[in-house]
Amino acid sequence: MRYVVTGAAGFIGSQLAETLQGAGHDVVGVDCFTDSYDPAEKEANAEALDDVLRLDLADEPLDLHGVDGVFHLAGQPGVRSFGGVFPLYLRRNVLATQQVLEACTRAGVRVVLASSSSVYGDAEAYPTPEEATPNPISPYGITKLACEHLLRAYGGDGVVLRYFTVYGPRQRPDMFLRRVCEALLGGNVIELYGSGAQSRSFTYVADAVEATIAAMERAPAGALYNVGGGSEATVLEAISMLEGVSGRPLDVRHVDAARGDVTRTRADVTRIRDAFGWEPRTALREGLAAMWSWAAARVAAA
Ligand SMILES: NC(=O)c1ccc[n+]([C@@H]2O[C@H](COP(=O)([O-])OP(=O)(O)OC[C@H]3O[C@@H](n4cnc5c(N)ncnc54)[C@H](O)[C@@H]3O)[C@@H](O)[C@H]2O)c1
Repeated sequence: MRYVVTGAAGFIGSQLAETLQGAGHDVVGVDCFTDSYDPAEKEANAEALDDVLRLDLADEPLDLHGVDGVFHLAGQPGVRSFGGVFPLYLRRNVLATQQVLEACTRAGVRVVLASSSSVYGDAEAYPTPEEATPNPISPYGITKLACEHLLRAYGGDGVVLRYFTVYGPRQRPDMFLRRVCEALLGGNVIELYGSGAQSRSFTYVADAVEATIAAMERAPAGALYNVGGGSEATVLEAISMLEGVSGRPLDVRHVDAARGDVTRTRADVTRIRDAFGWEPRTALREGLAAMWSWAAARVAAA
């Protein structure tokens, strides 16, 4: 099959594109290497890809001639989206998605859209099923919900995946577990937003990639699935696991909780399990060990 992966130089997109390529598919990666974090890191992420198109989806057309499916992961992630950064969220999430949907609808091509657990906000139930009323509390979450609605409005062959806090090798430098790894490696103090009692359905990146490919291959048109880790852990529990894995203590300084950060996420994955048997397979400790090895090797090579 010939697939387009947008956001192919990013954390999840690069590993999705590599997995598809490794399985023998023809993959065209699309990315414009935004400065949301060091573009050099994105260049390194995309190094193993055969074909990368440098294109800004918000204003350059996407040619889907001969393409069997689009994985749309490009975007501006991160819940710290209040203030002057909001136009970037509008452009890289809403506008870019609208352009991708135009191209997919015109070409009659399936799109799998990367959405987020952020659309639930402080959810009405835990574990949270897909039927829960969306109630995003960050501008980011609102743009991701807008992308979902756009996909429905276009009415083509689309599938929505709501990822829950993905972690593992290549995690974005703004994400908490990555900051923990780097603080452990550098012996630095880390600022922890809030008490650390906030919890997440941490999802290992290879599991998220597997769900994403299964959705392209097997989900019915119009489906919406949570893609979330098997266990919920507090931030303090995750820190303590990383301290155990690394054999180093972390120096934590508590600061005020960040606006837009929810207190809890816990995915109900019944729907995706029933649809095609996907389940998160990587235990948190195992995933954190892989992430730590990657982070340590990266620092050693610098
Ligand atoms: N990482 C998570 O835990 C998580 C959780 C929920 C949802 N998501 C979603 O999954 C997707 C991937 O997230 P990630 O963590 O890998 O992020 P990332 O920032 O590492 O990757 C996104 C990539 O998209 C590219 N991009 C942005 N705007 C673009 C545009 N207009 N044209 C072309 N390329 C553009 C960026 O350069 C970047 O390489 C995002 O849509 C994000 O909202 C991620």
